[in-house]
Amino acid sequence: MTDTTTLPTQARTVLDVIRRRRTVDITLLKPDPVPREVLEAILTAGTWAPTHGLTQPWHFKVFTGEARTRLGDIFAQAYAAGSAADRDSESALAAQRARALKAPVWISLELHVPATSKFPLWEEQAALSCAAQNILLAATAFGLVGKWASGAVMISPMTAAALGAPSLMGFLYLGYANAAAPDSTRAPLVDKVTWAE
Ligand SMILES: Cc1cc2nc3c(=O)[nH]c(=O)nc-3n(C[C@H](O)[C@H](O)[C@H](O)COP(=O)(O)O)c2cc1C
Repeated sequence: MTDTTTLPTQARTVLDVIRRRRTVDITLLKPDPVPREVLEAILTAGTWAPTHGLTQPWHFKVFTGEARTRLGDIFAQAYAAGSAADRDSESALAAQRARALKAPVWISLELHVPATSKFPLWEEQAALSCAAQNILLAATAFGLVGKWASGAVMISPMTAAALGAPSLMGFLYLGYANAAAPDSTRAPLVDKVTWAE
């Protein structure tokens, strides 16, 4: 990113958080819980995402503590009902259950499009995506790391039904890292931006 040292403090802070957000594997998370007030601040940031017509097409279920055992059961049921070759394997199902316990916080990304919405589905999905990014950025500002997980189990209609959601765009898991997150890369601006002046 461009040198930000001469920018106003607020701009520098925002740009720094954006640059620092990294997708982190679940194996790099500490078991430490995340305080409720931190989660509320992060989720509030999610709800301040842009939303065409103020449809606010999102709902988030937050799984922490013991509730993650139920979430793991839901993952295992969805996995068993899926198309993976090992869907009958008890160890594969146990891995799904164990996975839910590896992050201290899971947040469902539920798409709830109001029946009255006059906007195309993609706009509602985009609004939920903006909310997800707000959550990830706010989490980064609190020193948390995580991942948007969108594998088959995470978006399964069975998982959605178990949550009472119309559909799912996956889950975010969050936690404190036990090691430095690996950095990522992006194509240079010149490859992605054309200036018309
Ligand atoms: C809609 C969406 C779904 C994603 N789903 C997954 C996923 O299922 N598994 C995964 O490892 N990463 C997933 N990611 C994260 C990307 O892999 C990650 O953003 C990419 O590797 C770049 O790394 P960074 O986020 O650290 O910049 C997803 C990202 C987005 C935007």
